[in-house]
Amino acid sequence: MEQSKNRNSASKQQFEFPEQQLPTLTVEWDRFEDDPATNLKDALQRPTCWAVCGRIGKGKSSLVELIGSKYPKVIDLFGARDNESLSWCRSDRAGSILFLKGVGVQIDSSWPSENTLDVTIEQMQKYDAVVSCPSFYSTVKEEFYDIGMFMEKFYKRLHYDVKDVWCVVVREAANLLSSRLCIGETQTEAKAMMVYMLRQMRHHGVALALDSIRWKAVDIDIRDLAAYTFMKGQGIKGLPDDLKFLYNWFDPFGVMRMGKEKFILMSEDGPIGHGTATMPYWHKQEGEDLLRLFDIEVKYPDSLPQADSGQRHVNPYEHAKIVQVRYEKHLSYGKLGTEFSRSTKTIKDALDRHNRLIESMGQCTVCMTARCTLKDTYIPADIASTSEEEAEEAQTPKDA
Ligand SMILES: Nc1ncnc2c1ncn2[C@@H]1O[C@H](COP(=O)(O)OP(=O)(O)OP(=O)(O)O)[C@@H](O)[C@H]1O
Ligand SMILES: [Mg+2]
Ligand SMILES: [Zn+2]
Repeated sequence: MEQSKNRNSASKQQFEFPEQQLPTLTVEWDRFEDDPATNLKDALQRPTCWAVCGRIGKGKSSLVELIGSKYPKVIDLFGARDNESLSWCRSDRAGSILFLKGVGVQIDSSWPSENTLDVTIEQMQKYDAVVSCPSFYSTVKEEFYDIGMFMEKFYKRLHYDVKDVWCVVVREAANLLSSRLCIGETQTEAKAMMVYMLRQMRHHGVALALDSIRWKAVDIDIRDLAAYTFMKGQGIKGLPDDLKFLYNWFDPFGVMRMGKEKFILMSEDGPIGHGTATMPYWHKQEGEDLLRLFDIEVKYPDSLPQADSGQRHVNPYEHAKIVQVRYEKHLSYGKLGTEFSRSTKTIKDALDRHNRLIESMGQCTVCMTARCTLKDTYIPADIASTSEEEAEEAQTPKDA
């Protein structure tokens, strides 16, 4: 964990806004107003999936931030290229933020940071906001790969307090699919995995706020996951064909020209309403350079870490090979490390991931990609001699 600048530095004072009001959401229901789904206060305390659709600049991001701010913890991923997710640094959560970053990237700021690949559920527990932004990675590919791996961590959150639901904000839902592709999954696997993963999130106490879902660009399977969908101003093109029924309730001109604070809201249970969301006071304004504003300096490594995706993590084929050799030859982590020219830790991580995916999903999707026959086979930890492994554990050098 890195943290270099003093938290009480003068620069911090200038973006504290204690007098500012938290953003508000007001909805008037036009259909089924007595349905339990119209209780948004309740929905905002549960692991609900929220989606916001609309045209460029219509206040989608400001609305997902509002949703995130209603949960005890917000985890903001895939900020737009302008690092808008950093605006949490001037929200009421400024005192408790953890940055996520790529391996080897150094962040010099008054907030702590941790590698996206290494951060644990226990570490995140301590913060009110966990924030990733594009500038914290050496490449876009690294960002997507790391966040893809990061999303799998929630499966480890098996027990959660109903008062401690976390909200993951995904600023461009399509990026989530790209992140699966970066892990080495094929298009079909990536989509299946993403839908599966999003659907499972609620069992781990994780709500989702998906921003920038262009209605037609996103697959129906993914749109259908949302319990609530906000439609923002639609412009001259109007509502897509499958939503034209909404014109029974709303005036086409109103839908075309609605203000940035306005929206139509649909619940999957049938209620339809309309309302207003105020803009969070911390939301990034056009032209702002948030890195500079918050005095955050980022240094990138001179060379990227090894492996095909620029990571110390293994690709699917190497993963499958490690699983296979461990299963067939019962080699210890250390011996496998020598065989694959990898550190003991990297080998152990690969085998842990294999078992974790089988436990959570019934199949290891990494092995699936590599067409490995052991995709359903859990590899017990005691398959190799335990004493040998304990001896090795005393000295576990990391890959470069
Ligand atoms: N609730 C709101 N009320 C009034 N103005 C708003 C509101 N939300 C956003 N705005 C204004 O609109 C601008 C764009 O908002 P926002 O970044 O949320 O839009 P977006 O739909 O996410 O844009 P993009 O498509 O570029 O991602 C903001 O900078 C702000 O000035
Ligand atoms: Mg946006
Ligand atoms: Zn596997």
